[in-house]
Amino acid sequence: MLNIDNYFDANTWSKLKDFAKTHETPFVMINLDSIKKKYQQLTKYFPMAKIYYAIKANPAIEIIRLLHELGSSFDIASIYELEKVLSVGTSPDRLSFGNTIKKAKDIRTFYERGVRLFATDSEEDLRNIAREAPGSKVYVRILTEGGETSDWPLSRKFGCHPEMATELLILAKALGLEPYGISFHVGSQQRDIGVWDSALSKVQFMFQRLAYENIKLKMINLGGGFPAHYLQKTHKVSVYAKEILKFLKDDFEDEDFPEIILEPGRSLVGEAGVIVTEVVLVSRKAHNDFYRWVYTDIGKFSGMIETLDEAIRYPLYTEKTGETEEVIIAGPTCDSMDILYEHNKYALPLDLAQGDRLFWFATGAYTTSYSAIEFNGFPPLKAYYL
Ligand SMILES: Cc1ncc(COP(=O)(O)O)c(C=O)c1O
Repeated sequence: MLNIDNYFDANTWSKLKDFAKTHETPFVMINLDSIKKKYQQLTKYFPMAKIYYAIKANPAIEIIRLLHELGSSFDIASIYELEKVLSVGTSPDRLSFGNTIKKAKDIRTFYERGVRLFATDSEEDLRNIAREAPGSKVYVRILTEGGETSDWPLSRKFGCHPEMATELLILAKALGLEPYGISFHVGSQQRDIGVWDSALSKVQFMFQRLAYENIKLKMINLGGGFPAHYLQKTHKVSVYAKEILKFLKDDFEDEDFPEIILEPGRSLVGEAGVIVTEVVLVSRKAHNDFYRWVYTDIGKFSGMIETLDEAIRYPLYTEKTGETEEVIIAGPTCDSMDILYEHNKYALPLDLAQGDRLFWFATGAYTTSYSAIEFNGFPPLKAYYL
């Protein structure tokens, strides 16, 4: 049985439930106060770090405005996210163009808007930055381990070998850029804190190696990867902070302690969201089938894409409390890929029936932003920011 106290106090949950009663499913409710608390916790646990919210996790203007007011900086992936964050009045010195895959003309747009901090992981991109954003600060993203222990790996497509990253930082200086630091992302929903340790030892080696080239790097970007509370067990963010700060102190002397950047997405906004859905049908494929199929009015294409390979297992709540049995849960579209959970079965009440509501907890991150516009004619996931 899901423990709602892990997500909301009784008063907040009661308000969210009342709101849900008067709205047609499917939709997501995002509790802005939860995001505020997560932000405050993160700044408490990592007092020396600058937080760059990774907008991609949930690009809602309400969230951007809230984090802007709390003093957050922003990790931006595209010119579209850039315009959004500038529209709330964030100054460009609080922005980083963190996507290593970008068009030269978009680099120019960022530069013209005043952004001076750019991520890269390839020579071609670095040369584009030197040409379109002259004199800017660059940091190079390195490949890291952690693919097996993160639920949503990221390090294959992005980053380069530390040897190549070192060469790029030397080249950056030759091209008139400021070689500023190193970044990595150990994979989203990373459950093994130790992978930050191995990434940091690579970073420390690069800092030393570059000092021989008269390049004094100033910054480490530790990425995102901090967890939200789903069904798979993770430590609290406070435990991550304690361990990571220990790794940092082991690797860097006080006088050389670099500027630290974090780019949280999931850990800031994930637990603030509850997707409310309705059971469309319950059926069996044969009279003696072991499992019921429960079809809901949300699926992979309407916000639940992170159920691909059942990678993220959202906590599920129903108000029915009778005897349960394991089921397969699938979405409403005409695509047989649109099955949410088949191998990791959820136990749902035997009397669950069409029209009953299912509440999906911890769905504030990577849901609205991944929802399709019109697959099978279904509209994108509605979102209410409360
Ligand atoms: C460059 C970058 N930074 C930060 C994040 C956010 O990661 P998370 O949601 O695991 O905190 C991502 C996620 O894709 C990313 O690509």
